[in-house]
Amino acid sequence: MSRAIEVEKITKTYRVKSRRGLFKSSVEFVEAVKGISFTADYGSIVCLLGPNGAGKTTTIKILATLLLPDSGSARVAGYDVVKEASKVRENIGLMLTVEKGFYGKLNGRENLEYFAALYGLPRDIALKRIDHLVKLLELDKLGADRKLYEEFSLGMKARLSLARALLKDAPILLLDEPTLGLDPPSARKIRELVREMAHRENKSILYTTHNMFEAEIVCDRILLINKGVIVAEGSPEELKDKIPKLKVINLVIKASGDPGKPLERFTFRKEIKQEENSVFNVKIYVPRPEDVLGEIVKTLVNSGHEVVNVRVEEPSLEDVFIYYSEGSI
Ligand SMILES: Nc1ncnc2c1ncn2[C@@H]1O[C@H](COP(=O)(O)OP(=O)(O)O)[C@@H](O)[C@H]1O
Ligand SMILES: [Mg+2]
Repeated sequence: MSRAIEVEKITKTYRVKSRRGLFKSSVEFVEAVKGISFTADYGSIVCLLGPNGAGKTTTIKILATLLLPDSGSARVAGYDVVKEASKVRENIGLMLTVEKGFYGKLNGRENLEYFAALYGLPRDIALKRIDHLVKLLELDKLGADRKLYEEFSLGMKARLSLARALLKDAPILLLDEPTLGLDPPSARKIRELVREMAHRENKSILYTTHNMFEAEIVCDRILLINKGVIVAEGSPEELKDKIPKLKVINLVIKASGDPGKPLERFTFRKEIKQEENSVFNVKIYVPRPEDVLGEIVKTLVNSGHEVVNVRVEEPSLEDVFIYYSEGSI
């Protein structure tokens, strides 16, 4: 069997016209995806993990045949996304973050019936499938199968979107930040179902998120994406193992002035974040914390800063991300 998803060096640049004054306009180019390649197999969940603007939605839309790539190629279920778009569409279930197309004056079940008809599902099969999905996503428990869509909460809307993506029982699911902004029970339900569908039903799931915690618990393999480039990939454990020699000194400081100044003489990679007015969180990435920790604390104290808390930690997935997206630590 071919791979579920094969992406070869796809690129996408948006052309944006912006007005400058009354008569002038200028054209800007946004390189959203800069030649990314990856594959995804059946029976597993691959995550595109990256911050806002990384190119996740653009990638999903290209794979869903909603956008054409500028160059490169991609195959989904063995079909080319440009030349065999309708075959691709038959094989995918798609869930986008900003969902359109649901009817406010129809209830959840009626909306699903409408889309089932649109997808050409025979009515008897559609009704059985809808019964199953309404239960699976607990739309019935929430009353969402009877309520009008316009009265839905965000969690109910997301569940209905996922139900729609599952109507055809497609072997490949493209889910773009499916838990964004959801209440915890809805987010948990969706994550649980996604794992079941990949591991029990052998579906291939491409799942995007900007949430490291989520990627770690949901995904079998993570592709770290930043500014349109995949900067690293592997299982959550593999990614963390790739920077094994570094530990993180995590300091909370009440600063009088800029705590970065006295730390300049330590040439290790640092991340300094201001938490509140005078409270800073400082992370310093070092190979042997025991060699420098005392010196670092002394330097800070001597410069008039108060060290409120110090911890030495293993790198988290967030650290891994920083490491790969901004160069070496
Ligand atoms: N329709 C569009 N027109 C112009 N620029 C866009 C459009 N969609 C996305 N972009 C830009 O492309 C980049 C990638 O966006 P996107 O794929 O939505 O990233 P993500 O989903 O990871 O947040 C961003 O800089 C975004 O502003
Ligand atoms: Mg997006």
